[in-house]
Amino acid sequence: SWTPAAFVETTVQTLKDQIGNDKVVLGLSGGVDSTVAATLLHKAIGKNLYCIFVNNGLLRKNEFDSVLHQYKDMGLNVKGVDASERFLKALEGESDPERKRKAIGNAFIEVFDDEAHQVTGVDWLGQGTIYPDVIESVSVNGPSVTIKSHHNVGGLPDFMKLKIVEPLRMLFKDEVRRVGKEMGIDPELLGRHPFPGPGLAIRILGDITAEKVRILQEVDAIFIDGLRKWDLYDKVWQAGAILLPVNSVGVMGDERTYEKVVALRAVESTDGMTADWVNLPYEFLQEVSNNIINRVKGVNRVVYDISSKPPATIEWE
Ligand code: XMP
Repeated sequence: SWTPAAFVETTVQTLKDQIGNDKVVLGLSGGVDSTVAATLLHKAIGKNLYCIFVNNGLLRKNEFDSVLHQYKDMGLNVKGVDASERFLKALEGESDPERKRKAIGNAFIEVFDDEAHQVTGVDWLGQGTIYPDVIESVSVNGPSVTIKSHHNVGGLPDFMKLKIVEPLRMLFKDEVRRVGKEMGIDPELLGRHPFPGPGLAIRILGDITAEKVRILQEVDAIFIDGLRKWDLYDKVWQAGAILLPVNSVGVMGDERTYEKVVALRAVESTDGMTADWVNLPYEFLQEVSNNIINRVKGVNRVVYDISSKPPATIEWE
């Protein structure tokens, strides 16, 4: 029968045989799959695994620094690349959801290709593809993990011509988590909610600016920290905040305000294909709403999304 320990042992041996002294590049996303894939490869080939962790500027608050630190602590040979400005530039003036996704996908490919070129003599591209990604075109993983879904008009970037190694190809998500646990990966990292590759860009409806990203990062952090504090984080499959493209009237003292509205979203699901909104306690929502409005300048209204999928989707765009 399948056990995580046996899987780790046989996979590490297979990777050693397959890769030998070759070099592998792999994009880390901060998510479970790429982290577990990297850890297996690291066990097999050590420093010949070159990990690249790109900051697209659309991650959660402090996420790039804290996750990069964590990767280094795990002993991974990782390079953090802060490309925030480049992504913001690529997104400038863009409001259409699919065009935002495409702009981010293309910027990622360019940045990753530049970085992969700096590793001399690389033969392999490592990926955290899991079984559902293999059988489904809909993936809950970021483009940094399943790069192959993006096509570049100018021909394939060089890194996509590399041989591919995908040690998690046969595993389901829960098995990936068990393998990660077996290898001693931080349970908090393994229990993280899914996060879309385009990140906060698809949670800022309309065009993206640095200021909107900053506002949404603050709001999202209050919501997620609140879920942890109230011991609700693990009862929710995915949660996040959405910055709406409308202003609404409010009052502060005897001043009228005209500021942003944010929506909070928390869902239960098994695979993201269907989802139910979570019945979060009113007292929790009250505390989070107060904290957001009191602490985040530019926001004067919070709403909670009570739509299920279908017919709504989890993300708003
Ligand atoms: P929807 O909004 O389609 O989301 O109900 C289902 C799951 O997919 C994630 N999602 C994405 N993940 N790139 C991704 O990597 C995307 O463009 C993307 N769009 C949605 C979403 O967060 C949810 O987990």
